[in-house]
Amino acid sequence: SVKKPWGGRFREDTDRLVEEFTESVSFDQRLALHDLRQDLAHLEALKRAGVVTEEEAERIARGLSEIEAEIREGRFVFRAELEDVHMNIEAALREKIGPLAGKLHTGRSRNDQVATDFRLYLRDEIREILRLLHDLRRALVEKAREGLEIILPGFTHLQHAQPVLLAHHLLAYYEMFRRDADRFQDTLRRTAECPLGSAALAGTPYPLDRELTARLLGFERPSRNSMDAVSDRDFVLEFLFDAAVTMMHLSRLAEEIVLWMSPEFGFVDLPDALCTGSSIMPQKKNPDVAELLRGKCGRVYGNLLALLTVMKGLPLTYNRDLQEDKEPAFDTADTLRASLKVAALLVRGLSPRAERMRAAAEEGHPTATDLADYLVMKGLPFREAHEVTGRIVAFAEERGLKLWKIPLEDLRRFSDLIEEDVYEWLSVEGSVARRRTYGGTAPERVREALAQAEEELSAE
Ligand code: ARG
Repeated sequence: SVKKPWGGRFREDTDRLVEEFTESVSFDQRLALHDLRQDLAHLEALKRAGVVTEEEAERIARGLSEIEAEIREGRFVFRAELEDVHMNIEAALREKIGPLAGKLHTGRSRNDQVATDFRLYLRDEIREILRLLHDLRRALVEKAREGLEIILPGFTHLQHAQPVLLAHHLLAYYEMFRRDADRFQDTLRRTAECPLGSAALAGTPYPLDRELTARLLGFERPSRNSMDAVSDRDFVLEFLFDAAVTMMHLSRLAEEIVLWMSPEFGFVDLPDALCTGSSIMPQKKNPDVAELLRGKCGRVYGNLLALLTVMKGLPLTYNRDLQEDKEPAFDTADTLRASLKVAALLVRGLSPRAERMRAAAEEGHPTATDLADYLVMKGLPFREAHEVTGRIVAFAEERGLKLWKIPLEDLRRFSDLIEEDVYEWLSVEGSVARRRTYGGTAPERVREALAQAEEELSAE
């Protein structure tokens, strides 16, 4: 087994099982490039503090850039006996430049190192996720444009409620993903504090310029309290929460696609390239992609709960439990990125079946509220109007009629306020057109919303 950096105090080698149990390099090697970026920033601070000479700094930097090349080309061998990514890189540097490598660890602990690396990593992930969210929102806006004239039933309780424009329905998801992006932006703002220089927990006697290292690493400022900086992981939790909410939105969208593709709805079709078949039933064309989007939500929720649980009883400051922050975050980032890509593909692939949607929009007396509103307009209090309309709906049900097919003299038996002009209130198009409040489904409102969304997307 290899010599450990803490070897000075120890009389025995580490047990093999303990090495296996405590190692993190099998997964935290993902942080290698961030670790190297941090090394360079720290090196600069050490140089300015007079801990390393100009010439030493150059040798260290050269060693680090060789290591970077090996990592990028996949030639670097990570060793579990060296525990984590930080010690692997440190050991590799020592092999290259000898004991001088040891100076790089002056005034730094793995505690501030890992807290810094992980913030760097998550900030990169968030930027990528924001790009993918942007593309998904664009896909929704494009599809919404195609759906400006398509009417479908809007549902509550999965029962026909009121007719809406397909564009309006799709823009509802646009709004959800806009807020998701906003939440990630917010997390990015709060993650902009750099722990480097906190050292193990209390700070360090070396005069390290923390403003400088923070800036070199793209943070806005150094963190304010060294104990907080090495021991909290709320920034990871925020990331996991933002991701969980985004996955929840993706899952709801996916569920609607699954429903809409079933023959009972028949509202949309998807290209073969986005569906899968059955190994036994030759006729099948299944929306597995959407189902998996829905299914993958589960692990992302689980990751959030896992880390919340890890954190809850930890006394200040660093405890090894904190190493359990990484796998949930990596898994969440991978799952979310893949899900966002595939969701944009699904949205772009949706072919709305306008005639099916339009026919469904006529089922279930979707303009009953309009009839009640009509009676209100003629002077009846809404509660009475609701009652009268209910009786008319029951009558329509008995006769197997749509509301707009009931002859005027029949309607008038329920209320003599009803006149010939009622029919324009009963039509599906009329119902949609009248919902002109800000945020409503009337075509002019939806056009405005669409224009606003398009403007937003090109401004971002
Ligand atoms: N691999 C560790 C982690 O991920 C790095 C910090 C180790 N620090 C320590 N004092 N053992 O948390």
